[in-house]
Amino acid sequence: MSNDARFFAFLKDRIGLDVASVGEAIIERAVRQRCAASSAQDSDGYWQLLQTSAREQQALIEAVIVPETWFFRYPESFSTLGKLAQTRLAELMGSRPLRILSLPCSTGEEPYSIAMALFDAGICPQQFQVDAIDISPLSIERATRAIYGKNSFRGEQITFRDRYFSAEVDGFLLNQRVCNQVNFQAGNLLDPTLLAAKPAYDFVFCRNLLIYFDLATQQRVFEVLKCMTREEGVLFIGPAEGSLLARLGMRSIGIAQSFAFSRCAEKADVPPAAFVSLSLPALAPATFTRSVANLPLRASPRSFAPSPLVRASARAIPAPAGGLDSDAASLLVNIASLANEGKSTEARVACERYLTLHEPVAQVFYWLGLLSDLGGQTAEAQGLYRKALYLQPQHPEALAQLATLLASQGDTAGARRLQERAARGLSKEGRNR
Ligand SMILES: C[S@@+](CC[C@H](N)C(=O)[O-])C[C@H]1O[C@@H](n2cnc3c(N)ncnc32)[C@H](O)[C@@H]1O
Repeated sequence: MSNDARFFAFLKDRIGLDVASVGEAIIERAVRQRCAASSAQDSDGYWQLLQTSAREQQALIEAVIVPETWFFRYPESFSTLGKLAQTRLAELMGSRPLRILSLPCSTGEEPYSIAMALFDAGICPQQFQVDAIDISPLSIERATRAIYGKNSFRGEQITFRDRYFSAEVDGFLLNQRVCNQVNFQAGNLLDPTLLAAKPAYDFVFCRNLLIYFDLATQQRVFEVLKCMTREEGVLFIGPAEGSLLARLGMRSIGIAQSFAFSRCAEKADVPPAAFVSLSLPALAPATFTRSVANLPLRASPRSFAPSPLVRASARAIPAPAGGLDSDAASLLVNIASLANEGKSTEARVACERYLTLHEPVAQVFYWLGLLSDLGGQTAEAQGLYRKALYLQPQHPEALAQLATLLASQGDTAGARRLQERAARGLSKEGRNR
């Protein structure tokens, strides 16, 4: 589709999505899907429709965004928030409640985690308010329903589920007390009028979005985020999003795995025990891609964006590429959907079946590693990530996950080596482009 550049440009203009960050194939696929779902005859017809229909514009945006998220993602950031919030409230001496922003909030797991973390820190409902914004009205609608499946609860520490949710037939329903703390709104981070009339926030969460913007857009957005964050406030970002902030005069507050930045590092006041010397310039361990797209077989050379498990939706899994036989390809798609649905046992069985029937591929070992990782079997996960890297030394997700795992075990040198290796891979990829 030689004319796809206009769709790339449209998405970049509208939502900041940089085609280089997700790979052309993902956008092409979304366009093909929307073309088929609409009445358009071909891509030219679809382009015409897109020019005139706000509804179709939103549908295309919905087709390319990935609302990948879960509760207490990067748990340390939430414990850090709890401590910082206590300190800030003490400074405010009851003059006003804390103002917190989650943007993008996706289906609500992040802003609700913020509210739960603050309750856990002993903070009362009237002492804080969370604003939560996402470009996807569908995600916002799901967030307001506040009912969640297994995929929203990952990792070993999910005791919060017993305290804040009730089990219903169709999932886990969040307590009204937590829901009351969050105001949801659909909105675009690139919209200059968004929040223009609102006072700045004490804490801003903007995680796992900026990595999909090009440098110029990131710079622009960081300036906006800086303005949205109060002078003495703290900005929480995703693990891979820190390098630009330093150039904009913001500093890591020095709490490992929190990915928290302030304008004036010396003002971030947290009990010293919480500080550690290491602040990894981490490689993103998670988000926003569709794992099958990253198969070595015919992956777009520009499709880099690590992701643990992708959400099961018709749009999330691209068609298997050429080079795999159809049984292998459909098995891979099946593994991804099982994993996406949180069916870890079945996903694992499907991975093993794949390895019995077909040549081993890095992606399957990576998935197995991830399933072990999520199940808390870190030693096993480590071995599986290494197998993936043996088969494909630059497998970006395996490098990222293994680096994160080593860092969490205190092996900072090992983690750093992997990150450097991934960075070398990326720059080589860039040169080859
Ligand atoms: C991977 S999720 C991140 C959710 C959450 N912050 C987290 O880290 O778990 C990315 C979200 O960004 C949203 N998004 C994409 N472009 C956006 C934009 N220009 N403005 C606001 N939200 C956007 C998508 O709808 C998606 O829900």
